Amino acid sequence: MHLSKKCSVFKVVLSALLIVALLQLFYLSFLSKFHGNQQRYRYSELFGGSEGKKNGHPEKNSRKERLRFSLSTGGIFDNSGQYRVYKNLIKSDFTTNHKPGSIPSSHVLALATHTTINNLHHLESLVERWHNPLSVAIFAHGQDVKFATALVYALSFFCPQIQSLVDFHLVCLSGEMASFPEQDREHFAGLEDCASVFSRLETHRDKYKNYAISGNVSYPNNLLRNVARGGTESSYILVIDIDMMPSADLHQQFEAMILGRETASDEVFVLPAFEIRHARKMPGNKAELVQLYQVGEVRPFYEELCSRCQAPTNYSRWVNSHVRGSEPLEVGYTLTWVDPWEPFYIGPHTVPLYDENFKQYGFNRISQACELHIAGYKFSVLSSAFLVHRGFKIQGEFHAKKDEENKRNRVLFRSFKEGLKTKYPSSNRRC
Ligand SMILES: *[C@@H]1O[C@H](CO)[C@@H](O)[C@H](O)[C@H]1NC(C)=O
Ligand SMILES: *[C@@H]1O[C@H](CO)[C@@H](O)[C@H](O)[C@H]1NC(C)=O
Repeated sequence: MHLSKKCSVFKVVLSALLIVALLQLFYLSFLSKFHGNQQRYRYSELFGGSEGKKNGHPEKNSRKERLRFSLSTGGIFDNSGQYRVYKNLIKSDFTTNHKPGSIPSSHVLALATHTTINNLHHLESLVERWHNPLSVAIFAHGQDVKFATALVYALSFFCPQIQSLVDFHLVCLSGEMASFPEQDREHFAGLEDCASVFSRLETHRDKYKNYAISGNVSYPNNLLRNVARGGTESSYILVIDIDMMPSADLHQQFEAMILGRETASDEVFVLPAFEIRHARKMPGNKAELVQLYQVGEVRPFYEELCSRCQAPTNYSRWVNSHVRGSEPLEVGYTLTWVDPWEPFYIGPHTVPLYDENFKQYGFNRISQACELHIAGYKFSVLSSAFLVHRGFKIQGEFHAKKDEENKRNRVLFRSFKEGLKTKYPSSNRRC
């Protein structure tokens, strides 16, 4: 009697547990089905035909139509005829809503950068820090052309910050064409929000390191810099590599500085460039940077590979002044260019373009700095703004052909300098 009572209590508890377990299972299967439907819905929203969702998101559909339109133009060839350029493949809301000529005051300074899809994942933190207009030129070839088109579209579709601020330009080989990713569904399934697009990009990260692109294809860095620059209407432009990070609040501080200042068209504003040990948190202001600098976690950019290339910035002078970081941004000191300085700077929209003959490794930025010098520019170093490159650049991590490319570009640089003599006959400066 006693025993069977215990037994039936046990049975009741057991059945109750079973029922709960069954309900759980039922709930889980319902959830996953629901999630699957949602994914399919997201997918067709993104890439499906416009007849898919009639009452869907009209402005998102028009985004797709605009992409289709820019693809249908077939782009334009660059001066060499070797590359096809889709300028404004995807326009930000900012650019769409601001017609040329009516530059609003918030459009004093834009950031311009260039990359392949292998480094596009850096865009996430860059946009987060910059949160102002940004112009990105992407180079892709072969299979990557379609992949780049799809991912850039997905980024502008799912990421509100990117949608509102980032203009994308696509450059590929002239023999290749970009198209809307109508087919290839399996590549793009699972893209359902901003985070999922960035994790897809993560899987492509570092596939090619530092210009080592497969198939003997040259990375046209200077063409890309010009395309990115040409994609913005702002009065001043900062051109950086995509794996660099500007100091926090640079846009707002620079704007305040420039509005309270006589503007000179022959002045550029240098941001001292540093590199930071991997896995360290990016410093936001000068005080944080200097702290890391003093313990060796941050050092001058390219210190190991070419310390002379940045040394003219005069790091010791810069590091030892304006450290509090609470003062408004100003010009710390002004320098004349010396060989082989390769500064990063904010320049007026009108500075000479980069020479597009330079591709791959070597002399691509220095040639332009040299031209600025001969054209009469002065280099004013900003008191507390800076750039930080992610990771230390070290010997041996570069691709096999680096030295060969450097040699080829050295020859090119010599003839480039000859060309400057005829371009600026009255200049008495040399480099
Ligand atoms: C790579 O391209 C260069 C110039 O475009 C050419 O001289 C060279 O032979 C090519 N190498 C291979 C392995 O195709
Ligand atoms: C850097 O600046 C200091 C002045 O703060 C000067 O004494 C020094 O000569 C400069 N160094 C270089 C390499 O120009």
